[in-house]
Amino acid sequence: MQLPQKHSAEGTTIFTVMSALAQQHSAINLSQGFPDFPVDQRLGQLLHEAVQEGFNQYAPMPGLPQLRQAISNDFSKRYGVDVNPDTEITITPGATYAIYTAFTSILQPGDEVIVLEPAYDSYIPNIETNGAKAITVPLISPSFKVDWNKVKDAISAKTKAIIVNTPHNPTGAIWTRQDWDQLAALVRNTDIIIVSDEVYEQLVFDGKEHYTVLQHAELRKRSFAIYSFGKVFNNTGWKIGYCIAPPDFTKAFRRIHQFLCFSVNTPAQYAIATYLSQPRLPDVAKMMQQKRDYFLDLLKKTPFKIYGPAAGSYFQTVSYEQISDMPDREFAEYLTKEYGVATIPISAFYLGKKDDKLIRFCFAKKEETLAKAVDRLSKLQPMVTNTHSSALLSGLTQQG
Ligand SMILES: Cc1ncc(COP(=O)(O)O)c(C=O)c1O
Repeated sequence: MQLPQKHSAEGTTIFTVMSALAQQHSAINLSQGFPDFPVDQRLGQLLHEAVQEGFNQYAPMPGLPQLRQAISNDFSKRYGVDVNPDTEITITPGATYAIYTAFTSILQPGDEVIVLEPAYDSYIPNIETNGAKAITVPLISPSFKVDWNKVKDAISAKTKAIIVNTPHNPTGAIWTRQDWDQLAALVRNTDIIIVSDEVYEQLVFDGKEHYTVLQHAELRKRSFAIYSFGKVFNNTGWKIGYCIAPPDFTKAFRRIHQFLCFSVNTPAQYAIATYLSQPRLPDVAKMMQQKRDYFLDLLKKTPFKIYGPAAGSYFQTVSYEQISDMPDREFAEYLTKEYGVATIPISAFYLGKKDDKLIRFCFAKKEETLAKAVDRLSKLQPMVTNTHSSALLSGLTQQG
């Protein structure tokens, strides 16, 4: 029987492929973006408590009221924005689902969506499954800033949406207030909708700030803003996220959501609501920055080239152009099999598989995991002949 192909992505996602390869070769898994350290004990206890207290049946379709209220309070405290918990917040089984639901709420066959690449790998299949077309625009390598002229050129009468991701996976780049202003100028007087993937919103380093689309009064009116507790509470396996959008957008979102999963894991919602309402929560940005710094310091022992420290997220992207000529996917597989460290090739984040000889490490790991991985990587020898390999071998790792 011939079944339809709903999107153009081939086979299994790179995250599954690399994690499986890591397991097969007993490699240290710095590929997929998940922490290897435990969740805050208090959060675990609250989940247990939720089950004991009887929070075991279907939650209301938009999410537990106490969780939506806790999110509203949290956004008011941290970003100074008012979010109506009844009409603007919907709890979802993770951010990936929320992105898919946002696209499904708005896309019609023939629509176009602008995707800035490299991009998280679910966006384009989500767009295509809805019969729409992804129009890709490359970010400027290696800063991964937006080329606004290219975005402008990509806009057409068919453009229905632009998807934005800050802090950015895989590069760790973040958007400034000026970026949002540039975007606002381009979409003013159009009906273009913004889907803003902000799952790493609390993981911004070096005293920088995350600007959410919700702080931009003009853009907020045309945006779905999407978040994931998994990324900020280090419990990615709980798969709890949420979408914040204006009431008319939220209505459209819930029209789909109610027939897609209807409601989300009740005990986990209860646990997160109670946890979020505590007066003081652990400083996750500080903890993750320490890991980034520790990892960057260790990387000095390796011949990788680092264009700049990640400004946010779980990820550090590095160049191996002075180590090998291999295509990035082949190089990532080679590292897994021969050196026992799994990473993600950045070409996987491009529709056209653009290969800039970059790989992504996830540093949301225990220090001992990072140290063990870099110990293995420090044995790497440059294999290219026409570069400055001797300088690299003497330890002159570049760091910007
Ligand atoms: C940019 C980005 N968006 C969304 C997600 C998915 O989040 P969730 O696990 O809540 O579905 C991820 C996970 O890696 C991500 O990196």
